[in-house]
Amino acid sequence: MSPPLLDIQDLQVDFHTPEGIARAVDGVSLAVLKGETVGLVGESGCGKSVTSLAILGLIPSPPGKISAGRTLFEDRNLLAIGPQALRRLRGKEISMIFQEPMTSLNPVLPIGRQVAEPLMVHRNLPRSAAMEQAADYLERVKIPSARKRLNDYPHQLSGGMRQRVMIAMAMICGPKLLIADEPTTALDVTIQAQILSLMMALKEESRMSMLLITHDLGVVAQTADRVLVMYAGEVVEAAPVTDLFDHPFHPYTQGLLRSMPRLGGHDRGRRLKEIPGTVPPSTETLVGCKFADRCPDAFDRCRKEKPEPAGIDRDHWARCWLFEFPKKRGVHG
Ligand SMILES: Nc1ncnc2c1ncn2[C@@H]1O[C@H](COP(=O)(O)OP(=O)(O)OP(=O)(O)O)[C@@H](O)[C@H]1O
Ligand SMILES: [Mg+2]
Repeated sequence: MSPPLLDIQDLQVDFHTPEGIARAVDGVSLAVLKGETVGLVGESGCGKSVTSLAILGLIPSPPGKISAGRTLFEDRNLLAIGPQALRRLRGKEISMIFQEPMTSLNPVLPIGRQVAEPLMVHRNLPRSAAMEQAADYLERVKIPSARKRLNDYPHQLSGGMRQRVMIAMAMICGPKLLIADEPTTALDVTIQAQILSLMMALKEESRMSMLLITHDLGVVAQTADRVLVMYAGEVVEAAPVTDLFDHPFHPYTQGLLRSMPRLGGHDRGRRLKEIPGTVPPSTETLVGCKFADRCPDAFDRCRKEKPEPAGIDRDHWARCWLFEFPKKRGVHG
């Protein structure tokens, strides 16, 4: 098997806050293979965005600091190559799409110019040639009358159209990896589906890899090959997508699945269950499993000792002591 395109080992990101040091990412290891789509899911505040920003060297410092880890992209350690090399890589080899395009598009620059920019910066194309390619790419992402809209400003476009512009900008240089952080969350459901299928079609065409961050398990079910579940800064379960939905092991993953509406209307009469309690503050140092206080199956050891990842099945592992005591597992839901 060829080595992963992206291989993160034991990534740790701290924020220095008035309440103390908050460990937003606590020893995350994650790999993305060539051509693969990896979904990263978990509740709000669990460290998904901070993980992705750390990959690209975009953690605001201060207050943030990458305090440990290694991030190999092909054979380069992104944590060690320095800001200039990272700038050359961003938008060319690794691109990112954010949730709210208005915060990443420049409000005072026409969209054609913004889509052309990466070609001028990374490929040294003259402006006229870059604008020509930008127009072609805006047609590819299905902006109606794209050539006539090159001089439009972001505020003249709908949210869905702005997200298409972001996709064009992110993909025009043919990156090897696309990091998409909640790319459809701000859009209504029909537009969400259109944007997702556009992203997947472009991805298939280019054999690109994708790290897709979302709190929406429905999105993951439709797009990902493999899923990582994050809780309080840690990856607590990882599995191929069908395994995760069919045989979730970690009680947190099970809780997430119970709180998710099912597709196809099988929900009638079934109440969605929330996970009781809240995520512990990241300034707190916990000795055992961070989910223990909310876990319906927790026992003594869970509060005293931190579980290490344990293999459940092929490519499926979880960080949970129940692995050693399967009989203790309750059936919930
Ligand atoms: N600039 C910052 N200063 C201090 N703490 C921060 C900063 N940015 C993020 N954090 C903290 O890091 C933790 C992880 O945040 P992150 O944005 O990665 O969550 P997330 O999983 O992406 O959540 P969401 O689903 O809401 O986007 C949170 O506790 C957050 O408060
Ligand atoms: Mg986020």
